[in-house]
Amino acid sequence: MKAIAIDGPASAGKSTMARYLSKELQFIYVDTGALYRAIGLYCVHKGIDTTDGQQVTAILNEVVVELKYVEGEQRVFLNGQDVSQEIRQPEMSMAASNVSAISAVREFLFELQRDMARHNNVVMDGRDIGTVVLPWADLKIYLTASPEERARRRQNEYAQKGIETDYDKLLEEIRQRDYNDQHRLIAPLKKAEDAIEVDTTHDNMEETMARLLALAKEKLGNVAV
Ligand code: DC
Repeated sequence: MKAIAIDGPASAGKSTMARYLSKELQFIYVDTGALYRAIGLYCVHKGIDTTDGQQVTAILNEVVVELKYVEGEQRVFLNGQDVSQEIRQPEMSMAASNVSAISAVREFLFELQRDMARHNNVVMDGRDIGTVVLPWADLKIYLTASPEERARRRQNEYAQKGIETDYDKLLEEIRQRDYNDQHRLIAPLKKAEDAIEVDTTHDNMEETMARLLALAKEKLGNVAV
């Protein structure tokens, strides 16, 4: 099986790039952030503090998280219910970041992610894909952009969904989440040694897409492109 790992901070363009590459290569796109968001959502529904490792660990045996593909799009199921929309609410970002720092949560989601890559050609995005989940990936990309640019993109994304947000608050949250994700003890966000760093601050998306597709073709060789 072939695998492309795309890691990087929030809103650097990972999902746009991963979705594009997966379509071009006819691979499955696995958005691993959605798994952490599903656990965060469950905790928020239960009224559990997402920073409380003991409480969050205790509820994991009540949770079944599954990934399914409907018309090529990943859907996330939490205890049999499709929560793909709900996990995108702004407050779920920090809830996901909080629970992702808890070792039991990472262990809980680890096999599910590995399994996807065992059975499918995948483009997988997240924070620790190239470093921990798929260290053997054929191509590793570390996608970044300035916090200001990422906050602007996030604001546009929400605006398109009709959700109004405050730019300064988004910027503050992005900085906070970067800090959380980079400084947690287990599987922190960092560039794998053999990853190619791509800064998208000043790129337009088409340029980055073309660059990544060329890299994929070069590294993966004879795949369905
Ligand atoms: O990619 P995202 O914004 O949906 O991810 C939400 C949070 O989940 C992110 O802030 C950190 C965590 N996460 C992680 O720790 N490891 C991953 N592979 C993916 C996401």
